[in-house]
Amino acid sequence: MAEHTRVSDVRTASYEADPEQVRRVLLLYSGGLDTSVMLKWIQDEYDAEVVALTVNLGQPGEDYEVVRGKALRLGALDCKVVDAREEFAREYIVPAIKANALYGGGYPLFTALGRPLIAKLAVEAAREFECDTIAHGCTGKGNDQVRIEATIATLAPELQVIAPVRSWRMGREEEIAYAREHGIPVKGGTEVAPYSIDDNLWGRSSEGRWIEDLACAPEDDVFQLVTRPEEAPDEAEEVSVEFARGVPVALNGERLDLVELIERAGEIGARHGVGIVDHIEDRIVGLKVRDIYEAPAAAILLTAHQELEKLVCTIHQNQTKPELDRRWAYLVYAGLWWEPLRGDLDAYMERVNEQVTGTIALKLYKGGARVVRRESSNAVYDAALAGFGESGGLFSQQASPGFIELWSLQSRMAWRLRARDGER
Ligand code: ARG
Repeated sequence: MAEHTRVSDVRTASYEADPEQVRRVLLLYSGGLDTSVMLKWIQDEYDAEVVALTVNLGQPGEDYEVVRGKALRLGALDCKVVDAREEFAREYIVPAIKANALYGGGYPLFTALGRPLIAKLAVEAAREFECDTIAHGCTGKGNDQVRIEATIATLAPELQVIAPVRSWRMGREEEIAYAREHGIPVKGGTEVAPYSIDDNLWGRSSEGRWIEDLACAPEDDVFQLVTRPEEAPDEAEEVSVEFARGVPVALNGERLDLVELIERAGEIGARHGVGIVDHIEDRIVGLKVRDIYEAPAAAILLTAHQELEKLVCTIHQNQTKPELDRRWAYLVYAGLWWEPLRGDLDAYMERVNEQVTGTIALKLYKGGARVVRRESSNAVYDAALAGFGESGGLFSQQASPGFIELWSLQSRMAWRLRARDGER
């Protein structure tokens, strides 16, 4: 075996596998080139058995039978396919909606939300199949390795981890050569490296190629989910989202299961070019990286949720919650899903969201999603108070001058002192 493909015996962390102790490996398998090469490579290099696990988080257009067949053909003892869409929606996306979760002002965290669930399912499958080690296909440059390994080390300290892509030092050409040599099908042309894609119900990210050149504006072929805004319909479309206690329950008046609701919101948004984000991101591992995100469902549901929350919360809640929302998003981005602080924050999010019931309508048009209608029986709003008419008894406009006198008191005093000093 060539030098560059040898198993790494440098171990920094306690959970990294001792090659001697690797007998049966649970491989997180996507069916792509990296994890297919890994499936073979682990069998050869470690002389170990491999069980594959493929997790369905709602990746559009994936054929899981094909993925499973491929794993078995490459020598996996078994390939378990788990449909985790419902759990992902209920236990991961809903808390994110309640926390209006956006990292860095634009990234709705779909990958960051998916990783702890995928890793948790890997732990469960590893135990079921009596594996001693979990293998994943993350590189050493990204956040995903952090999210996956932090989850495994937290939930299953008895399991070891290997991350071949991080250690094998094969370049793309060598990987393709390895694949050819071992009868692993290589999709598409081999001259141009494909984008690095990750997707699920909540969105899709693309990295690599021209995206790494900050001077390059997006090339059309990157958008595989959302219609480019300039090609979106000339007719605007209104979409209404009903929430019950912070959870979306109906779209355009039609009650839907959560997964279907998210999928439908995504389709409507995608048609109108909604949810494209060209993002420079501060990764936890130090780097700044550019990502192209397509997250039409999140663009609609987060916008609607945030708007409704604003309507039912007081000014004080509205001042405070965004700060905690930001903390929540950072913890999740940073791979600390299992950190108790998230639970603490979730309790707060839950409490606020008890009031978040009502309907928000957005108008979608060529990439924009603008709120046009709001309705909630919990709105801290009274048209009679807000309007120009009488104030209806809750307060007297005659009280306003007294309020203004006290409200401005310190500012007026400070102003006077500065005026006095300026005169000297
Ligand atoms: N930058 C995003 C994040 O850190 C997206 C990562 C996408 N992952 C991938 N393996 N392509 O969550």
